[in-house]
Amino acid sequence: MALRGVAIVGFGGHGRVVAAALKASRIPIVTATDQFPEKIDSAALGFAVVTDDELLREHDPESVRLVLGIGGVAPSTSDDSRHRAIERFQQLGYQFTGLQHPAAWVAPDAKIASTAQIHAGVMIQPGVRVGEFAILNTGSTVDHDCQIGDYCHIAPGVTLSGDVQVGAGSHIGTGAAIIQGIRIGSQSFVAAGATVVRDVPDHEWVRGVPAKPFHKS
Ligand SMILES: CC(C)(COP(=O)(O)OP(=O)(O)OC[C@H]1O[C@@H](n2cnc3c(N)ncnc32)[C@H](O)[C@@H]1OP(=O)(O)O)[C@@H](O)C(=O)NCCC(=O)NCCS
Repeated sequence: MALRGVAIVGFGGHGRVVAAALKASRIPIVTATDQFPEKIDSAALGFAVVTDDELLREHDPESVRLVLGIGGVAPSTSDDSRHRAIERFQQLGYQFTGLQHPAAWVAPDAKIASTAQIHAGVMIQPGVRVGEFAILNTGSTVDHDCQIGDYCHIAPGVTLSGDVQVGAGSHIGTGAAIIQGIRIGSQSFVAAGATVVRDVPDHEWVRGVPAKPFHKS
């Protein structure tokens, strides 16, 4: 069957941001999935919201590409459901794709993985690399030569100065700022509003100005 458009997997807050970006890009949305589709008023959306199982029954892997609509607020809360959804659909032969909102600016030489999401207002400067399933959320800026690992979430309004590295699966919280040359490990967490001026090891959680380690409650 011919490709008909994309399906959004997960239709909470992030899924609706994904839908807005796809619509702005004039990419047809054939359906979206949610655990409780009956709670969503899909009349105004222009596409049906169904369960994952219904998606599998109604759309074969050749007819749709999938876009992940699951975001997250920290590594521990978001990773499981994101990874589970990706693995389940990929094992059944479905392919995921990323997106780039038309109101984002991306330097021509930046290397963006095919499943990464670049949302409205994002600025990406030369020499940047962005990994698979990474989310660069609304209005985040990523300066020259930064490297963003797979599955990272760079939340709205984050500022990454030049040559910052963010390891796989890390979450940089809303409005955080990272000064130039910093290395942030994998599965790490930078709290909203933090200013990071020292490297952050793998799995460490930091917050504050300047950012210091803390234990999540
Ligand atoms: C760090 C974070 C996880 C804390 O959330 P929480 O556990 O619910 O925190 P609480 O509200 O229970 O606050 C606990 C304490 O930490 C402090 N605190 C909370 N968030 C903080 C932050 N971002 N920076 C510094 N201190 C913070 C609170 O003031 C409170 O201090 P107190 O005990 O002295 O009163 C949260 O603030 C955060 O940064 N989340 C990321 C949000 C994000 O990136 N969203 C993206 C959505 S797209």
